[in-house]
Amino acid sequence: MTVLTVENLHVGTDDLALVSDVSFTLAAGERVGLIGESGSGKSLTAAAVMGLLPEGVHATGSVRLHGVPHDLVGASERQLAAVRGNALTMVFQEPMTALNPAMRVGDQVAEVMLLHGTRPDRTAARAAAVDLLAQVRLPEPERTARAYPHQLSGGQRQRVMIAIALANGPSVLLADEPTTALDVTVQAQVLDLVLTGVAERGAALLFITHDLAVVATVCERVLVMYGGRVVEAGPVREVFTRPRHPYTRGLLDASDLTSANGRLRTIPGTVPAAGRFPAGCVFRNRCPRATGACATLPAWTDGAAGGGFACWHPVAADG
Ligand SMILES: Nc1ncnc2c1ncn2[C@@H]1O[C@H](COP(=O)(O)OP(=O)(O)O)[C@@H](O)[C@H]1O
Ligand code: SF4
Ligand SMILES: [Mg+2]
Repeated sequence: MTVLTVENLHVGTDDLALVSDVSFTLAAGERVGLIGESGSGKSLTAAAVMGLLPEGVHATGSVRLHGVPHDLVGASERQLAAVRGNALTMVFQEPMTALNPAMRVGDQVAEVMLLHGTRPDRTAARAAAVDLLAQVRLPEPERTARAYPHQLSGGQRQRVMIAIALANGPSVLLADEPTTALDVTVQAQVLDLVLTGVAERGAALLFITHDLAVVATVCERVLVMYGGRVVEAGPVREVFTRPRHPYTRGLLDASDLTSANGRLRTIPGTVPAAGRFPAGCVFRNRCPRATGACATLPAWTDGAAGGGFACWHPVAADG
């Protein structure tokens, strides 16, 4: 069952196109990776889905959530507030930006359940919050519930964010580099909490990361973004073993999927500034396969399982 459908999503300011024509779906229980270098438009895509775009940045297109009658693009703040933190949640790279510094963390977890009516009263919500803090394996959950965010470590704060994101049993969780800011020693534990949390609730996960090795082990499908566009998509096994887009090929060549450190090194050339990507194929100024034909926006070629790629001169399917 499809729980999230994003169609022809465009995000930009009055002057700059920042995300162009992004379409994808998430099925219940599915884990989909979203990869691409910094500046590719991954965070803005997630922010647009959440209806959390910064001032001066707007979205067009369509974002439909299963069970919600209206499109989230163009929905009122009141309509969005009913969905956000409830059926649709997000974990950010830096939890401090999303937590209220002046409120005890247990109350913040309880608040989201009271707000959406998941628990009938404050006493029940408080008890459920302590349970959730225990589920995300915070030490002494009763005591931790009474702490303020600044009294916790970065890893502990991220656990609180995950508890908040899971509190109402979301159907879709967006995780934007949830472990990048954390100590290496706690990254795997925090990732495991996200994965266990969505699996227990049957939620779909969109996992934004630089770590291709993690995508290879935890995701079923992957979306590759560059220059604000999805340039390739498909089953992870397919895309990572037989990439068709030269950008995907470059990303894979710059990573070592066999080591624990599957983070991106660099691919030749630099990512243009926002809105400065070439016309036609956005990868044209860095692509080893570019020809004159690439001055025209490449058409999408369908591949396996709803995937495909946008390139005039794809890498051969047999490698
Ligand atoms: N509020 C904004 N105004 C103008 N440009 C922005 C704004 N927010 C992000 N951008 C630009 O949009 C591009 C995509 O940003 P982002 O989605 O954060 O990329 P990613 O998450 O893939 O690193 C970047 O070039 C970034 O500088
Ligand atoms: S369309 Fe051309 S420039 Fe773009 S990725 Fe393909 S070969 Fe390279
Ligand atoms: Mg980002």
